[in-house]
Amino acid sequence: MKSICFATNNAHKLEEVRAILAGRFELLSLNDLNFTTEIPEPYETIEENALAKAQFVFSRLQMPVIADDSGLEIEVLDGKPGVHSAHYAGTRDAQANIDLVLKQMKDHQNRQARFKSVIAYIDGEGKQQSFEGTVEGNITKVVRGADGFGYDPIFMPKGYDRTFAELSATEKNTISHRKRALENWVHCLNSPQV
Ligand code: IMP
Repeated sequence: MKSICFATNNAHKLEEVRAILAGRFELLSLNDLNFTTEIPEPYETIEENALAKAQFVFSRLQMPVIADDSGLEIEVLDGKPGVHSAHYAGTRDAQANIDLVLKQMKDHQNRQARFKSVIAYIDGEGKQQSFEGTVEGNITKVVRGADGFGYDPIFMPKGYDRTFAELSATEKNTISHRKRALENWVHCLNSPQV
């Protein structure tokens, strides 16, 4: 089975992506590879940061790598927290981030939002490609559900009456932004090259 580094130490993301890829690849995390260097995320877009993460890891490990950068884009907040989703309230504290979003949304009726994920892939020879996935939904007025991570308890995907944190992992993995980005990547790997 082909080994690929997934440039993350986020246990939730790792679990999600392993479940979605379901044994197609041996997915090795940064911890698995004893890669302890902090990876910079210097850019102002999700696309650029995903590629920068993949390039940083590939330049050191010289093996196939995928990197994900993702975020929540809220319409009435002009796309924020966006690329700053992880430390929107100042630190990597999911509850503080949620509290800040709910406070900023307090007087807004328009609750439309979407999660976006970009998967950057660099193959063994250094060829780079990026794949995007999004899921549309609404920001709830209160926190609902205990599963998942990040903004899951306040994001209700379109067509559902439960938040991501109330869906089972399997249900979330069927419709998530990461799932859609990964699907685009796998589809590309399966396509005959021209
Ligand atoms: P990254 O690790 O730099 O990609 O940070 C992405 C941030 O966006 C995470 O720390 C979460 O706050 C948020 N995020 C991304 N994907 C999800 C998700 O599936 N559920 C909830 N929050 C997410």
